[in-house]
Amino acid sequence: MIEREEREIPETVVNTQAPTEEREFEVGLRPQTLQDFVGQEDIKENLSIFIEAAKKRGEAPEHVMLYGNPGLGKTTLAHIIANEMGSQIRITSGPALERVGDLAAILSNMGRGDVLFIDEIHRMNKTIEEVLYPAMEDFALDIIVGKGPTARTLRLNLERFTIIGATTRLSLLSSPLRDRFGVTHHLNFYEEADISRIISRSAKLLNVELDGDAMDLLSRRSRRTPRIANRLLRRVRDFADVRAQGRISPQVCEDAMKMLHVDHLGLDQTDRRILQTIIEKFNGGPVGLSTIAAATQEEMETIEDVHEPFLIQIGFLTRTPRGRMVTEHAYTHLKLEE
Ligand SMILES: Nc1ncnc2c1ncn2[C@@H]1O[C@H](COP(=O)(O)OP(=O)(O)OP(=O)(O)O)[C@@H](O)[C@H]1O
Ligand SMILES: [Mg+2]
Repeated sequence: MIEREEREIPETVVNTQAPTEEREFEVGLRPQTLQDFVGQEDIKENLSIFIEAAKKRGEAPEHVMLYGNPGLGKTTLAHIIANEMGSQIRITSGPALERVGDLAAILSNMGRGDVLFIDEIHRMNKTIEEVLYPAMEDFALDIIVGKGPTARTLRLNLERFTIIGATTRLSLLSSPLRDRFGVTHHLNFYEEADISRIISRSAKLLNVELDGDAMDLLSRRSRRTPRIANRLLRRVRDFADVRAQGRISPQVCEDAMKMLHVDHLGLDQTDRRILQTIIEKFNGGPVGLSTIAAATQEEMETIEDVHEPFLIQIGFLTRTPRGRMVTEHAYTHLKLEE
């Protein structure tokens, strides 16, 4: 009942969602403590005070919402919070909670101070959401017993626990649900120096030797996203094992990136195709998301969750009320890359 929903995700280098096999690789690289979690200093400081305070009071901390683009560390942070609290963590996700009974079973089994991690919480259905309200607010479950005129509501008390919700789309959450989280943290894209530290940490864990230039080269192409940094490192390691007796030099990195069609800013073929389509077919925009999706044959959700945030971040794309527009920077970059 408590399990992650497995989705088939086509693997491209830039796709910030992790396919199953990669998730196992990621688990090995996942930091376990706040101290090992690189970057996001504000969030870390806030969380450490928050955790310390809850521990001092001997209470379960307030419910926490983590939101941010895929691969920035939401799941990692959820585990760290539970770990630092010394709590048990149970994991489920919005789409996995199909029936009210599923949620009721999970909640009534939560022990005092346990953490329930609900991933992709924006994909939870409305009926489930309504059961969650009293559970979050009053630590109670309202269960309807019987049918028709004899039906009545039974209130079941729950232990005090903490829900950690994660979402890539805060805007899709209803406001009553959002309001029930005591704290909300927004994970942003990482500084390049932090990405370098993440690569260096992962390289150590994987027993991979990497010189400074090779590291710079990889961190610049990682889209300021830890998941992509780890992924590129892994691909380069594979490439070096096969083509360069395991030695990772800047040239080997360069060759591996070329083979993966990742350019010097970290854009892949799909990013470039999206930009090119807007330029060539729609005169640079503005053009609506669904039109872009149809013209590039990509899923709307993929464009919106995976490609667009980074293109906007580096100033290649803007969102206007009339649709997406390509900027001058994108024109220049594409010409350089041709
Ligand atoms: N701050 C960090 N320091 C070190 N490694 C990190 C950090 N953040 C993320 N990672 C690494 O990146 C990988 C992806 O992170 P995580 O799975 O937590 O992302 P996510 O935000 O939950 O993504 P999704 O939205 O796809 O669920 C993890 O395996 C972890 O090793
Ligand atoms: Mg996650």
